[in-house]
Amino acid sequence: MVQRNKNFAKLQAGYLFPEINRRKTEFLAKNPEANIISLGIGDTTEPLSKTVVKALVNAAEGMGSLDGYSGYGAEQGMAPLREKIAEVFYDNSIAADEVFISDGAKCDTGRLQMMFGNDVTLAVQDPSYPVYVDSGVIMGQTGEYNNDNQQFDNIVYMKCVPENDFFPELEKADIIYFCSPNNPTGAVATREQLEKLVDFAKTNQSIIIFDAAYAEFISEPDVPKSIYEIDGAKDVAIEICSFSKPFGYTGVRLGWTIVPKTVQFEDGTPVHNDWNRVMTTVFNGASNIIQKATIEVLNSEQGLAEMKALVSFYMENARIIKEALDELGFTTYGGTNAPYTWVKIEGKDSWEAFSYILENAHIVTTPGAGFGPGGEGYVRFSAFAHRENVLEAIERMKKLDL
Ligand code: MLT
Repeated sequence: MVQRNKNFAKLQAGYLFPEINRRKTEFLAKNPEANIISLGIGDTTEPLSKTVVKALVNAAEGMGSLDGYSGYGAEQGMAPLREKIAEVFYDNSIAADEVFISDGAKCDTGRLQMMFGNDVTLAVQDPSYPVYVDSGVIMGQTGEYNNDNQQFDNIVYMKCVPENDFFPELEKADIIYFCSPNNPTGAVATREQLEKLVDFAKTNQSIIIFDAAYAEFISEPDVPKSIYEIDGAKDVAIEICSFSKPFGYTGVRLGWTIVPKTVQFEDGTPVHNDWNRVMTTVFNGASNIIQKATIEVLNSEQGLAEMKALVSFYMENARIIKEALDELGFTTYGGTNAPYTWVKIEGKDSWEAFSYILENAHIVTTPGAGFGPGGEGYVRFSAFAHRENVLEAIERMKKLDL
């Protein structure tokens, strides 16, 4: 018999969002009449913009002609898309060949682990997006799970709490995951905080994996949208980003990772070389239809304006949710530079609060503990929903005794 990868046995329960879905389905089986509103997973709900749809149709039609047809493309992505991303999101401070196009930020997060192997130490913000920890566990970078503190050995959990303004005491590790705007707390790191992070990584010879998937949701003018706005970051940071949330591409699938040629491993090998090797080996490029369409969208002022309108729509949801929960007496965080509101719960743990809200208000939220031990005592409300559902959810929350 084939031996099971022993790292899988270390994982705790199922991956967070399927587990939430399982509990929702179980509840619905017993209560088929319940009209469930999902403010749980950050999954976009509004239709693709007109420019995106038109560009997708154009790209698909092109594939139906001899001249327009294309098969496999470059694994790193189409050159005009790489160039356009460098221009639109980085003001050309990043070279086009440092942009690697992919099928999404989550997939790249997993593939990055393949590049680092199992001999590195990890540091994560606690709470954090569960893919960082779970993919590290699968790769064998961690030890066993400890029930007493709900942490894996060999992972440094850097607590992010209101007391430190959700910016942690930085701790030494080879790889430091850092997400801003943060999923799940909704906090954003200031320029000074990011300077501290980059300095720390330089001093300790760490590599930062900066998750900027929610960068477009930042509304305050002085908050950096990219780690590369910080001097020196190009020597120590990889940045992951995504079209999913700002363009409504959660089902379309397109993202990118920036790997500057100046980030190096201990032996002097540019990380860029190995990332190129990973992508050319296990990835065959993102869909050519999606890439072609997105080049058209990024070249269109209208396309970019529609993206901003979509972001504003979700951020208005976030404002409504946060204000309503504040009025109800909850202590809330986030929700102004990120589509997530992080809500303190008193007298219940976060899975209990999740169940209570599901059973009594028929609203799906995300329990904070699903993001790591530092999330205990919180639930996360996502702003990705139709407006009428957000308003209805608020009315239902008013009736709860939470
Ligand atoms: C979340 O809800 O935390 C994320 O949207 C899920 C994801 O992007 O994979």
